[in-house]
Amino acid sequence: MRAVDLIQKKRDGLELTTEEIQWLIDGYVDGSVPDYQMSALAMAIYFKGMSTREISDLTMAMVHSGEEIDLSAIAGVKVDKHSTGGVGDKVTLILAPLVASFGVPVAKMSGRGLGHTGGTLDKLESIKGYQIEISQEDFIKQVQETGVAVIGQSDNLVKADKLLYALRDVTATVDIIPLIASSVMSKKIAAGADAILLDVTVGEGAFMKNIEDARVLARTMVDLGKAVGRKTVAVLTDMSQPVGTSIGNRLEILEALEILQGNGRADVTEFICELAQIMLSLANVEKTVEEVCQHIENGAALKKFEEMVVAQGGDLEDLYRPVQVSNQVDVLSDEDGYIVGLPALEFGLFAMRIGAGRAVKTDDLDYETGIVFHKKVGEAIAEGEKIATIYANENISENMLTNFKKNVKIDKVSVKTKEIIEIIS
Ligand code: URA
Repeated sequence: MRAVDLIQKKRDGLELTTEEIQWLIDGYVDGSVPDYQMSALAMAIYFKGMSTREISDLTMAMVHSGEEIDLSAIAGVKVDKHSTGGVGDKVTLILAPLVASFGVPVAKMSGRGLGHTGGTLDKLESIKGYQIEISQEDFIKQVQETGVAVIGQSDNLVKADKLLYALRDVTATVDIIPLIASSVMSKKIAAGADAILLDVTVGEGAFMKNIEDARVLARTMVDLGKAVGRKTVAVLTDMSQPVGTSIGNRLEILEALEILQGNGRADVTEFICELAQIMLSLANVEKTVEEVCQHIENGAALKKFEEMVVAQGGDLEDLYRPVQVSNQVDVLSDEDGYIVGLPALEFGLFAMRIGAGRAVKTDDLDYETGIVFHKKVGEAIAEGEKIATIYANENISENMLTNFKKNVKIDKVSVKTKEIIEIIS
């Protein structure tokens, strides 16, 4: 076979066979198919798409490109969760210990943030001492003993995705449904859980900008999961504004603690309890949302979170420490009205520029910096009232402040928001 012929075949809108897809992935991992040919293929897929059979073959070829984790030593139904990326998304930090507090084991591998999106691993690493690199043996032991572990993905898992994701990131081929579906599901299948909850984010701050595309992505991933015997449910969630009130690594840890202490915003807390209810149900534990939320109110979820932090070497005293920055800037409203838009993409980029995120993979993070919103979409605001506080270790220029304010959309009429838009199972 020759890569050029397969690129041409896809470019002309024809289907690649199972063997051809396997050959391309094998060749890409062993280096015989170079980056430039893989990027041409990704672009051809962008324009011509892939059939259901091709997506399934691509996913399984990617799964087999690295090691697969065997979680069978952990008793019970192991449930995993994956988000397709967002801004201020601290959901896993609360959801994983909340689900584990019901005795359902959560063995989770998370990723890092890139561009305007944040990553759970970066947030956890902002806790002094927290180890994200753990051997498979210790990972399984921790889940057996404490019921929950959130670690980094092992280098050997889905090798093809590591290479392909980095390539897609620099060739404008990230937001392509067959490639996102195979990237997410190959990692979830290889990570070994019995059941999977997919959080498919929709909106201006997500890869899927509209509900129709998000539905297709969700349905594709649910079908991929089911085809290999994993119970899979997808939830379409709103990413038009940041999740919760904070963006930034330590700031999000602090917000997660607030939620776990029962002091978080009611809408985010309920949203996470709803996701936990679905994860529990995937593990055959049926609870009402109220019953799930009780584990936040009675401290059971917080206790699990602390147990996980300690088990992974984190310092509990440092965990509760406020952020330390040289510059805190309050952003005040110039008018009365209602907040009708807080574009997640713009604020994710703002937070990235002040050090909370990475423009390229090799960038260092400033864990302390970020944004806390005092108002969210749908809420009333008065002239002179605080919209947000910026936490920075640099001077925030007038220009930056003006741009920040320009992105806060205020109107005389309020709008309604909804975290969970649709469930696809
Ligand atoms: N998240 C992933 O893991 N892969 C993608 O391609 C997009 C989001």
